[in-house]
Amino acid sequence: MARLTTVFTCSACGHEEPKWHGRCAGCGEWNTLAEEKRAPAPARRGGGGGGRSAEPGEAVRPVRLAEVQAIQVARLQTGIGELDRVLGGGLVPGSLVLLGGSPGIGKSTLTSMALGNLAGAGRRTLYVSGEESAAQIKLRAERLPGAALDVPVLAETDLDTVLATLDAERPEVCVIDSVQTLHAGDLTGAAGSVGQVREVADRITRLAKARDIAVLLVGHVTKEGSLAGPRVLEHLVDCVLQFEGERERTYRTLRALKNRFGSTSEAGVFEMRQGGLVEVQDASARFVGEATRAPGSVVLAAMEGSRPLLVEVQALVSPSELVPPRRVANGIDRNRLALVLAVLGRHAGVGVGSADVFVNVAGGVRVDEPGADLAVALAVASATRGIVAGAGARPIACFGEIGLTGELRTVAHPERRLAEAAKFGLAPIVTPAGAGRGAAEAATLRDALRAGLGAAPAARAA
Ligand SMILES: Nc1ncnc2c1ncn2[C@@H]1O[C@H](COP(=O)(O)OP(=O)(O)OP(=O)(O)O)[C@@H](O)[C@H]1O
Ligand SMILES: [Mg+2]
Repeated sequence: MARLTTVFTCSACGHEEPKWHGRCAGCGEWNTLAEEKRAPAPARRGGGGGGRSAEPGEAVRPVRLAEVQAIQVARLQTGIGELDRVLGGGLVPGSLVLLGGSPGIGKSTLTSMALGNLAGAGRRTLYVSGEESAAQIKLRAERLPGAALDVPVLAETDLDTVLATLDAERPEVCVIDSVQTLHAGDLTGAAGSVGQVREVADRITRLAKARDIAVLLVGHVTKEGSLAGPRVLEHLVDCVLQFEGERERTYRTLRALKNRFGSTSEAGVFEMRQGGLVEVQDASARFVGEATRAPGSVVLAAMEGSRPLLVEVQALVSPSELVPPRRVANGIDRNRLALVLAVLGRHAGVGVGSADVFVNVAGGVRVDEPGADLAVALAVASATRGIVAGAGARPIACFGEIGLTGELRTVAHPERRLAEAAKFGLAPIVTPAGAGRGAAEAATLRDALRAGLGAAPAARAA
Protein backbone atom coordinates (compact mmCIF):
# COMPACT_ATOMS: atom_id res chain seq x y z
CA MET A 1 0.00 0.00 0.00
CA ALA A 2 1.28 3.51 -0.84
CA ARG A 3 2.71 5.41 2.13
CA LEU A 4 0.60 8.20 3.50
CA THR A 5 2.16 11.55 4.28
CA THR A 6 0.96 13.86 7.05
CA VAL A 7 -0.05 17.46 6.42
CA PHE A 8 -1.81 19.99 8.61
CA THR A 9 -4.61 21.89 6.92
CA CYS A 10 -6.25 25.10 8.13
CA SER A 11 -10.02 24.74 8.42
CA ALA A 12 -10.49 28.46 7.79
CA CYS A 13 -8.40 29.09 4.67
CA GLY A 14 -7.13 25.68 3.49
CA HIS A 15 -3.47 26.65 4.01
CA GLU A 16 -1.21 23.62 4.45
CA GLU A 17 1.79 23.12 6.74
CA PRO A 18 4.05 20.10 7.12
CA LYS A 19 4.09 20.61 10.93
CA TRP A 20 1.45 21.61 13.46
CA HIS A 21 1.40 25.26 14.54
CA GLY A 22 -0.92 27.00 16.95
CA ARG A 23 -1.51 29.78 14.47
CA CYS A 24 -2.15 29.45 10.73
CA ALA A 25 0.50 31.24 8.67
CA GLY A 26 -2.06 31.71 5.88
CA CYS A 27 -4.85 33.57 7.67
CA GLY A 28 -3.53 34.17 11.17
CA GLU A 29 -6.36 32.22 12.89
CA TRP A 30 -5.53 30.24 16.03
CA ASN A 31 -6.14 26.50 16.51
CA THR A 32 -7.40 25.87 13.01
CA LEU A 33 -4.74 23.41 11.79
CA ALA A 34 -5.93 19.82 11.68
CA GLU A 35 -3.96 16.72 10.84
CA GLU A 36 -4.63 15.01 7.57
CA LYS A 37 -3.06 11.99 5.90
CA ARG A 38 -2.45 12.14 2.18
CA ALA A 39 -1.88 9.34 -0.24
CA PRO A 40 0.75 10.22 -2.88
CA ALA A 41 -0.75 11.79 -6.02
CA PRO A 42 -1.86 9.10 -8.49
CA ALA A 43 0.26 8.62 -11.59
CA ARG A 44 -0.62 11.25 -14.17
CA ARG A 45 -2.90 10.13 -16.93
CA GLY A 46 -2.06 11.49 -20.35
CA GLY A 47 -4.73 13.89 -21.49
CA GLY A 48 -2.95 14.53 -24.72
CA GLY A 49 -4.00 14.37 -28.30
CA GLY A 50 -2.99 10.82 -28.98
CA GLY A 51 -5.24 9.60 -26.16
CA ARG A 52 -2.39 7.44 -24.80
CA SER A 53 -0.85 7.82 -21.36
CA ALA A 54 2.30 9.90 -21.32
CA GLU A 55 5.29 9.21 -19.13
CA PRO A 56 5.77 11.93 -16.52
CA GLY A 57 7.84 14.70 -18.07
CA GLU A 58 7.06 13.67 -21.66
CA ALA A 59 5.49 16.36 -23.86
CA VAL A 60 1.89 15.80 -25.00
CA ARG A 61 0.15 17.34 -28.01
CA PRO A 62 -2.78 19.50 -26.87
CA VAL A 63 -6.06 19.04 -28.77
CA ARG A 64 -8.21 21.71 -30.41
CA LEU A 65 -11.54 21.81 -28.60
CA ALA A 66 -13.41 21.31 -31.88
CA GLU A 67 -11.72 17.91 -32.25
CA VAL A 68 -12.65 16.75 -28.76
CA GLN A 69 -15.47 14.22 -28.82
CA ALA A 70 -18.45 15.63 -26.97
CA ILE A 71 -20.23 13.28 -24.61
CA GLN A 72 -23.99 13.29 -24.47
CA VAL A 73 -25.01 13.48 -20.82
CA ALA A 74 -28.41 12.02 -20.04
CA ARG A 75 -29.43 13.63 -16.76
CA LEU A 76 -31.20 11.58 -14.14
CA GLN A 77 -34.56 13.10 -13.22
CA THR A 78 -35.24 12.96 -9.49
CA GLY A 79 -38.95 13.41 -10.10
CA ILE A 80 -38.94 16.44 -7.78
CA GLY A 81 -39.48 19.30 -10.22
CA GLU A 82 -38.05 22.03 -7.99
CA LEU A 83 -34.91 19.97 -7.22
CA ASP A 84 -34.35 19.10 -10.89
CA ARG A 85 -34.72 22.75 -11.86
CA VAL A 86 -32.22 23.93 -9.25
CA LEU A 87 -29.80 21.21 -10.40
CA GLY A 88 -30.08 22.57 -13.96
CA GLY A 89 -32.29 19.77 -15.33
CA GLY A 90 -31.50 16.75 -13.14
CA LEU A 91 -28.51 14.90 -11.74
CA VAL A 92 -25.49 14.44 -13.99
CA PRO A 93 -24.05 10.88 -13.82
CA GLY A 94 -20.69 10.81 -12.05
CA SER A 95 -21.25 14.22 -10.45
CA LEU A 96 -21.06 15.16 -6.80
CA VAL A 97 -23.73 17.34 -5.28
CA LEU A 98 -23.30 18.70 -1.78
CA LEU A 99 -26.60 19.44 -0.01
CA GLY A 100 -26.20 21.66 3.04
CA GLY A 101 -28.78 22.72 5.58
CA SER A 102 -29.35 23.20 9.28
CA PRO A 103 -30.52 20.28 11.47
CA GLY A 104 -34.09 19.15 10.89
CA ILE A 105 -34.60 21.27 7.79
CA GLY A 106 -35.44 18.20 5.68
CA LYS A 107 -32.20 17.12 3.97
CA SER A 108 -32.79 13.42 4.62
CA THR A 109 -36.43 13.76 3.58
CA LEU A 110 -35.54 15.45 0.29
CA THR A 111 -32.81 12.96 -0.60
CA SER A 112 -34.96 9.96 0.41
CA MET A 113 -37.78 11.24 -1.79
CA ALA A 114 -35.41 11.76 -4.72
CA LEU A 115 -34.00 8.24 -4.38
CA GLY A 116 -37.51 6.81 -4.01
CA ASN A 117 -38.57 8.42 -7.28
CA LEU A 118 -35.42 7.24 -9.03
CA ALA A 119 -35.90 3.70 -7.70
CA GLY A 120 -39.50 3.84 -8.89
CA ALA A 121 -38.23 4.79 -12.34
CA GLY A 122 -36.07 1.66 -12.39
CA ARG A 123 -32.73 3.27 -11.46
CA ARG A 124 -30.24 1.52 -9.18
CA THR A 125 -30.01 3.54 -5.96
CA LEU A 126 -28.31 3.33 -2.57
CA TYR A 127 -28.89 5.34 0.60
CA VAL A 128 -25.89 5.36 2.95
CA SER A 129 -26.61 6.76 6.39
CA GLY A 130 -24.10 7.31 9.15
CA GLU A 131 -26.63 9.22 11.23
CA GLU A 132 -29.63 6.95 11.47
CA SER A 133 -30.26 3.22 11.76
CA ALA A 134 -32.00 1.35 8.94
CA ALA A 135 -35.13 1.20 11.13
CA GLN A 136 -35.19 4.98 11.55
CA ILE A 137 -34.73 5.49 7.82
CA LYS A 138 -37.63 3.08 7.19
CA LEU A 139 -39.81 5.06 9.58
CA ARG A 140 -39.26 8.19 7.50
CA ALA A 141 -39.69 6.36 4.19
CA GLU A 142 -43.08 5.06 5.34
CA ARG A 143 -44.53 8.54 5.32
CA LEU A 144 -43.04 9.44 1.94
CA PRO A 145 -44.75 8.96 -1.41
CA GLY A 146 -43.43 6.90 -4.32
CA ALA A 147 -41.11 3.95 -4.04
CA ALA A 148 -39.16 5.27 -1.02
CA LEU A 149 -39.40 1.82 0.62
CA ASP A 150 -37.72 0.17 -2.41
CA VAL A 151 -34.45 2.04 -1.86
CA PRO A 152 -31.64 -0.18 -0.51
CA VAL A 153 -30.04 1.28 2.63
CA LEU A 154 -26.69 0.90 4.33
CA ALA A 155 -26.31 2.22 7.88
CA GLU A 156 -22.53 2.53 8.10
CA THR A 157 -19.88 5.01 9.18
CA ASP A 158 -16.70 3.29 7.97
CA LEU A 159 -15.52 4.88 4.73
CA ASP A 160 -13.77 1.75 3.41
CA THR A 161 -16.92 -0.34 3.89
CA VAL A 162 -19.01 2.31 2.15
CA LEU A 163 -16.61 2.54 -0.79
CA ALA A 164 -16.39 -1.24 -1.13
CA THR A 165 -20.19 -1.50 -1.08
CA LEU A 166 -20.52 1.25 -3.68
CA ASP A 167 -18.02 -0.56 -5.88
CA ALA A 168 -19.87 -3.84 -5.52
CA GLU A 169 -23.42 -2.51 -5.87
CA ARG A 170 -22.65 0.05 -8.61
CA PRO A 171 -25.70 2.25 -7.98
CA GLU A 172 -26.47 4.96 -10.51
CA VAL A 173 -27.38 7.38 -7.75
CA CYS A 174 -26.22 7.30 -4.17
CA VAL A 175 -26.93 9.46 -1.12
CA ILE A 176 -24.34 9.79 1.64
CA ASP A 177 -26.05 11.15 4.77
CA SER A 178 -23.88 12.79 5.97
CA VAL A 179 -20.32 13.48 4.87
CA GLN A 180 -19.47 14.46 8.45
CA THR A 181 -20.35 11.04 9.89
CA LEU A 182 -18.11 8.87 7.68
CA HIS A 183 -14.74 7.92 9.10
CA ALA A 184 -11.56 6.96 7.27
CA GLY A 185 -9.82 4.35 9.45
CA ASP A 186 -6.29 5.23 8.28
CA LEU A 187 -6.61 8.84 9.48
CA THR A 188 -6.41 10.13 12.98
CA GLY A 189 -9.06 12.62 14.03
CA ALA A 190 -12.72 12.15 14.80
CA ALA A 191 -15.37 11.86 12.08
CA GLY A 192 -16.36 15.33 10.96
CA SER A 193 -12.92 16.87 11.51
CA VAL A 194 -11.41 18.85 8.66
CA GLY A 195 -8.97 16.14 7.60
CA GLN A 196 -11.63 13.43 7.76
CA VAL A 197 -14.25 15.35 5.80
CA ARG A 198 -11.74 16.21 3.13
CA GLU A 199 -10.48 12.64 2.84
CA VAL A 200 -14.01 11.21 2.77
CA ALA A 201 -15.13 13.63 0.05
CA ASP A 202 -11.95 13.12 -1.95
CA ARG A 203 -12.19 9.33 -2.00
CA ILE A 204 -15.89 9.32 -2.75
CA THR A 205 -15.28 11.76 -5.61
CA ARG A 206 -12.67 9.51 -7.14
CA LEU A 207 -14.91 6.46 -6.99
CA ALA A 208 -17.96 8.36 -8.24
CA LYS A 209 -16.09 9.68 -11.28
CA ALA A 210 -14.56 6.29 -12.04
CA ARG A 211 -17.87 4.39 -11.74
CA ASP A 212 -20.20 7.12 -13.03
CA ILE A 213 -22.20 7.26 -9.81
CA ALA A 214 -24.13 10.47 -9.16
CA VAL A 215 -23.57 11.19 -5.46
CA LEU A 216 -25.66 13.44 -3.25
CA LEU A 217 -23.52 14.30 -0.23
CA VAL A 218 -25.48 15.66 2.71
CA GLY A 219 -23.54 18.22 4.78
CA HIS A 220 -24.21 19.98 8.06
CA VAL A 221 -24.08 23.74 8.37
CA THR A 222 -22.48 25.65 11.19
CA LYS A 223 -24.32 28.05 13.49
CA GLU A 224 -23.28 30.88 11.17
CA GLY A 225 -25.02 29.12 8.29
CA SER A 226 -21.98 28.14 6.25
CA LEU A 227 -21.23 24.54 5.32
CA ALA A 228 -19.29 22.75 8.03
CA GLY A 229 -15.95 21.29 7.10
CA PRO A 230 -13.17 22.72 4.99
CA ARG A 231 -13.95 25.23 2.25
CA VAL A 232 -12.14 22.91 -0.12
CA LEU A 233 -15.18 20.65 0.03
CA GLU A 234 -17.10 23.25 -1.94
CA HIS A 235 -14.35 23.34 -4.57
CA LEU A 236 -14.21 19.57 -4.79
CA VAL A 237 -17.87 18.98 -5.62
CA ASP A 238 -19.67 19.93 -8.83
CA CYS A 239 -22.69 21.49 -7.24
CA VAL A 240 -23.45 23.01 -3.83
CA LEU A 241 -27.10 23.21 -2.82
CA GLN A 242 -28.30 25.01 0.27
CA PHE A 243 -31.59 24.06 1.89
CA GLU A 244 -32.75 26.92 4.06
CA GLY A 245 -35.67 28.24 6.01
CA GLU A 246 -36.68 28.02 9.62
CA ARG A 247 -37.39 24.62 11.03
CA GLU A 248 -40.51 25.83 12.81
CA ARG A 249 -41.93 27.28 9.59
CA THR A 250 -43.34 25.18 6.85
CA TYR A 251 -41.65 26.87 3.86
CA ARG A 252 -38.13 25.92 2.82
CA THR A 253 -36.07 27.20 -0.09
CA LEU A 254 -33.51 25.25 -2.05
CA ARG A 255 -30.79 27.25 -3.81
CA ALA A 256 -27.71 26.41 -5.82
CA LEU A 257 -24.63 28.24 -4.51
CA LYS A 258 -22.42 26.63 -7.11
CA ASN A 259 -23.31 24.57 -10.17
CA ARG A 260 -20.92 23.31 -12.81
CA PHE A 261 -23.82 22.06 -14.96
CA GLY A 262 -26.38 24.81 -14.65
CA SER A 263 -27.31 28.25 -13.42
CA THR A 264 -26.95 29.26 -9.79
CA SER A 265 -29.82 31.68 -9.92
CA GLU A 266 -32.61 29.12 -9.61
CA ALA A 267 -34.42 28.43 -6.37
CA GLY A 268 -37.13 26.00 -5.38
CA VAL A 269 -39.76 26.46 -2.68
CA PHE A 270 -40.99 23.51 -0.61
CA GLU A 271 -43.41 22.95 2.22
CA MET A 272 -42.90 20.24 4.87
CA ARG A 273 -46.04 18.16 5.30
CA GLN A 274 -47.00 14.85 6.83
CA GLY A 275 -46.33 13.16 3.49
CA GLY A 276 -42.88 14.72 3.04
CA LEU A 277 -41.75 17.80 1.16
CA VAL A 278 -44.28 19.21 -1.28
CA GLU A 279 -43.25 21.59 -4.05
CA VAL A 280 -44.89 24.98 -3.78
CA GLN A 281 -45.50 26.16 -7.32
CA ASP A 282 -47.94 28.93 -6.45
CA ALA A 283 -45.84 30.43 -3.65
CA SER A 284 -46.81 34.01 -4.61
CA ALA A 285 -50.54 33.24 -4.25
CA ARG A 286 -49.94 31.75 -0.79
CA PHE A 287 -47.89 34.67 0.49
CA VAL A 288 -50.19 37.34 -0.94
CA GLY A 289 -53.21 35.50 0.48
CA GLU A 290 -51.61 35.52 3.92
CA ALA A 291 -50.50 39.19 3.74
CA THR A 292 -52.13 41.44 6.31
CA ARG A 293 -53.60 44.92 5.75
CA ALA A 294 -52.03 46.59 8.75
CA PRO A 295 -49.40 49.27 9.35
CA GLY A 296 -45.94 47.80 8.76
CA SER A 297 -46.87 45.33 6.02
CA VAL A 298 -46.02 45.56 2.31
CA VAL A 299 -45.53 43.00 -0.45
CA LEU A 300 -42.13 42.71 -2.09
CA ALA A 301 -41.96 41.57 -5.70
CA ALA A 302 -38.74 39.58 -5.40
CA MET A 303 -36.94 37.32 -7.84
CA GLU A 304 -36.09 33.73 -6.93
CA GLY A 305 -33.75 32.83 -9.74
CA SER A 306 -35.61 33.40 -12.98
CA ARG A 307 -39.03 33.32 -11.25
CA PRO A 308 -40.77 36.26 -9.64
CA LEU A 309 -42.00 35.65 -6.10
CA LEU A 310 -44.27 37.88 -4.04
CA VAL A 311 -43.47 37.85 -0.32
CA GLU A 312 -44.78 39.89 2.57
CA VAL A 313 -42.27 42.09 4.41
CA GLN A 314 -43.38 43.14 7.90
CA ALA A 315 -41.90 45.73 10.24
CA LEU A 316 -42.54 46.63 13.86
CA VAL A 317 -41.19 49.89 15.27
CA SER A 318 -41.48 50.24 19.01
CA PRO A 319 -40.12 52.94 21.36
CA SER A 320 -37.12 51.71 23.29
CA GLU A 321 -35.00 52.68 26.28
CA LEU A 322 -32.11 50.59 25.00
CA VAL A 323 -28.95 52.28 23.77
CA PRO A 324 -28.34 51.40 21.02
CA PRO A 325 -31.88 50.23 20.24
CA ARG A 326 -32.48 46.78 18.82
CA ARG A 327 -32.34 45.98 15.11
CA VAL A 328 -33.69 42.53 14.36
CA ALA A 329 -33.81 41.24 10.78
CA ASN A 330 -35.33 37.88 9.78
CA GLY A 331 -35.06 36.90 6.15
CA ILE A 332 -33.03 39.94 5.08
CA ASP A 333 -29.44 40.98 5.64
CA ARG A 334 -28.89 42.88 8.90
CA ASN A 335 -26.41 45.29 7.31
CA ARG A 336 -28.90 46.06 4.57
CA LEU A 337 -31.48 46.93 7.25
CA ALA A 338 -29.00 49.30 8.90
CA LEU A 339 -28.39 51.00 5.56
CA VAL A 340 -32.11 51.38 4.80
CA LEU A 341 -32.77 52.85 8.28
CA ALA A 342 -29.93 55.33 7.86
CA VAL A 343 -31.21 56.49 4.45
CA LEU A 344 -34.80 56.68 5.78
CA GLY A 345 -33.64 58.97 8.59
CA ARG A 346 -31.28 61.10 6.54
CA HIS A 347 -33.19 61.52 3.27
CA ALA A 348 -36.85 60.71 3.90
CA GLY A 349 -37.57 62.18 7.32
CA VAL A 350 -38.37 58.83 8.98
CA GLY A 351 -36.19 58.68 12.08
CA VAL A 352 -36.14 55.53 14.19
CA GLY A 353 -33.11 56.43 16.33
CA SER A 354 -34.84 55.78 19.66
CA ALA A 355 -36.96 52.81 18.65
CA ASP A 356 -36.45 49.07 18.34
CA VAL A 357 -36.94 47.92 14.75
CA PHE A 358 -37.94 44.39 13.83
CA VAL A 359 -38.20 43.37 10.18
CA ASN A 360 -39.42 39.99 9.09
CA VAL A 361 -40.03 38.30 5.75
CA ALA A 362 -43.18 36.27 6.35
CA GLY A 363 -43.19 32.51 5.83
CA GLY A 364 -39.53 32.04 6.76
CA VAL A 365 -38.40 33.01 3.24
CA ARG A 366 -34.98 34.62 2.81
CA VAL A 367 -34.50 37.38 0.24
CA ASP A 368 -30.90 38.22 -0.49
CA GLU A 369 -31.17 40.90 -3.11
CA PRO A 370 -30.90 44.70 -3.11
CA GLY A 371 -34.39 44.84 -4.66
CA ALA A 372 -35.77 44.23 -1.16
CA ASP A 373 -34.55 47.63 0.12
CA LEU A 374 -37.67 49.56 -0.86
CA ALA A 375 -40.01 47.01 0.75
CA VAL A 376 -38.06 47.24 4.01
CA ALA A 377 -38.15 51.05 3.87
CA LEU A 378 -41.88 51.19 3.12
CA ALA A 379 -42.70 48.64 5.84
CA VAL A 380 -40.64 50.55 8.43
CA ALA A 381 -42.11 53.92 7.39
CA SER A 382 -45.63 52.48 7.45
CA ALA A 383 -45.03 51.04 10.95
CA THR A 384 -43.44 54.27 12.21
CA ARG A 385 -46.30 56.43 10.95
CA GLY A 386 -48.93 53.91 11.96
CA ILE A 387 -50.63 54.03 8.58
CA VAL A 388 -51.57 51.21 6.25
CA ALA A 389 -49.69 51.26 2.94
CA GLY A 390 -51.99 51.80 -0.05
CA ALA A 391 -55.58 52.91 -0.13
CA GLY A 392 -57.38 49.90 -1.61
CA ALA A 393 -58.36 46.57 -0.15
CA ARG A 394 -55.35 44.84 -1.72
CA PRO A 395 -51.82 45.27 -0.34
CA ILE A 396 -49.33 47.41 -2.24
CA ALA A 397 -46.30 45.88 -3.92
CA CYS A 398 -42.85 47.32 -4.48
CA PHE A 399 -39.25 46.59 -5.40
CA GLY A 400 -36.11 48.67 -5.86
CA GLU A 401 -32.65 49.25 -4.49
CA ILE A 402 -32.03 52.29 -2.30
CA GLY A 403 -28.86 54.31 -2.90
CA LEU A 404 -26.95 56.12 -0.17
CA THR A 405 -28.11 59.50 -1.44
CA GLY A 406 -31.76 58.52 -1.15
CA GLU A 407 -32.25 57.69 -4.83
CA LEU A 408 -34.08 54.60 -6.09
CA ARG A 409 -32.09 52.32 -8.35
CA THR A 410 -33.23 49.83 -10.95
CA VAL A 411 -32.97 46.11 -10.22
CA ALA A 412 -33.01 43.07 -12.52
CA HIS A 413 -36.20 41.91 -14.29
CA PRO A 414 -38.54 44.82 -13.48
CA GLU A 415 -41.07 43.65 -16.10
CA ARG A 416 -41.40 40.15 -14.59
CA ARG A 417 -41.83 41.54 -11.09
CA LEU A 418 -44.44 44.02 -12.32
CA ALA A 419 -46.38 41.35 -14.19
CA GLU A 420 -46.45 39.08 -11.12
CA ALA A 421 -47.69 41.88 -8.83
CA ALA A 422 -50.30 42.94 -11.41
CA LYS A 423 -51.50 39.33 -11.73
CA PHE A 424 -52.61 39.44 -8.09
CA GLY A 425 -54.19 42.88 -8.44
CA LEU A 426 -51.73 44.59 -6.11
CA ALA A 427 -51.75 48.39 -6.40
CA PRO A 428 -49.94 50.66 -6.46
CA ILE A 429 -46.74 48.90 -7.50
CA VAL A 430 -44.04 51.30 -6.36
CA THR A 431 -40.86 50.94 -8.43
CA PRO A 432 -37.73 52.84 -9.50
CA ALA A 433 -38.03 54.98 -12.64
CA GLY A 434 -38.25 53.17 -15.96
CA ALA A 435 -39.89 49.99 -14.63
CA GLY A 436 -42.70 50.03 -17.22
CA ARG A 437 -46.42 50.52 -17.68
CA GLY A 438 -48.65 50.17 -14.66
CA ALA A 439 -45.94 51.06 -12.19
CA ALA A 440 -46.00 53.98 -9.75
CA GLU A 441 -42.46 55.09 -10.58
CA ALA A 442 -40.42 57.09 -8.11
CA ALA A 443 -36.97 58.60 -8.50
CA THR A 444 -36.21 58.93 -4.79
CA LEU A 445 -37.12 57.18 -1.57
CA ARG A 446 -39.08 60.27 -0.50
CA ASP A 447 -41.21 60.04 -3.70
CA ALA A 448 -41.67 56.30 -3.15
CA LEU A 449 -42.98 56.88 0.39
CA ARG A 450 -45.42 59.41 -0.99
CA ALA A 451 -46.58 56.95 -3.68
CA GLY A 452 -46.92 54.05 -1.24
CA LEU A 453 -48.12 55.73 1.95
CA GLY A 454 -49.52 59.02 0.76
CA ALA A 455 -48.49 62.31 2.36
CA ALA A 456 -48.22 61.59 6.06
CA PRO A 457 -49.64 64.16 8.47
CA ALA A 458 -46.65 65.98 9.91
CA ALA A 459 -47.72 65.26 13.50
CA ARG A 460 -47.60 61.49 12.93
CA ALA A 461 -44.22 61.50 11.23
CA ALA A 462 -41.43 60.39 13.51
N1 LIG B 1 -45.07 13.41 10.43
C1 LIG B 1 -44.52 14.57 10.09
N2 LIG B 1 -45.26 15.59 9.58
C2 LIG B 1 -44.73 16.76 9.21
N3 LIG B 1 -43.43 17.02 9.32
C3 LIG B 1 -42.63 16.06 9.83
C4 LIG B 1 -43.13 14.80 10.23
N4 LIG B 1 -42.08 14.06 10.67
C5 LIG B 1 -40.98 14.83 10.54
N5 LIG B 1 -41.31 16.03 10.05
C6 LIG B 1 -40.41 17.16 9.76
O1 LIG B 1 -39.24 16.68 9.16
C7 LIG B 1 -38.11 17.31 9.76
C8 LIG B 1 -36.94 16.35 9.78
O2 LIG B 1 -36.59 16.11 8.45
P1 LIG B 1 -35.20 15.44 8.10
O3 LIG B 1 -34.91 14.30 9.02
O4 LIG B 1 -35.25 15.16 6.65
O5 LIG B 1 -34.21 16.64 8.39
P2 LIG B 1 -32.63 16.67 8.24
O6 LIG B 1 -32.30 17.96 7.58
O7 LIG B 1 -32.16 15.43 7.59
O8 LIG B 1 -32.17 16.73 9.76
P3 LIG B 1 -30.78 16.25 10.40
O9 LIG B 1 -29.81 17.32 10.10
O10 LIG B 1 -31.10 16.14 11.84
O11 LIG B 1 -30.43 14.94 9.78
C9 LIG B 1 -38.55 17.66 11.16
O12 LIG B 1 -37.93 18.85 11.57
C10 LIG B 1 -40.02 17.87 11.00
O13 LIG B 1 -40.28 19.24 10.80
MG1 LIG C 1 -30.91 13.90 8.29
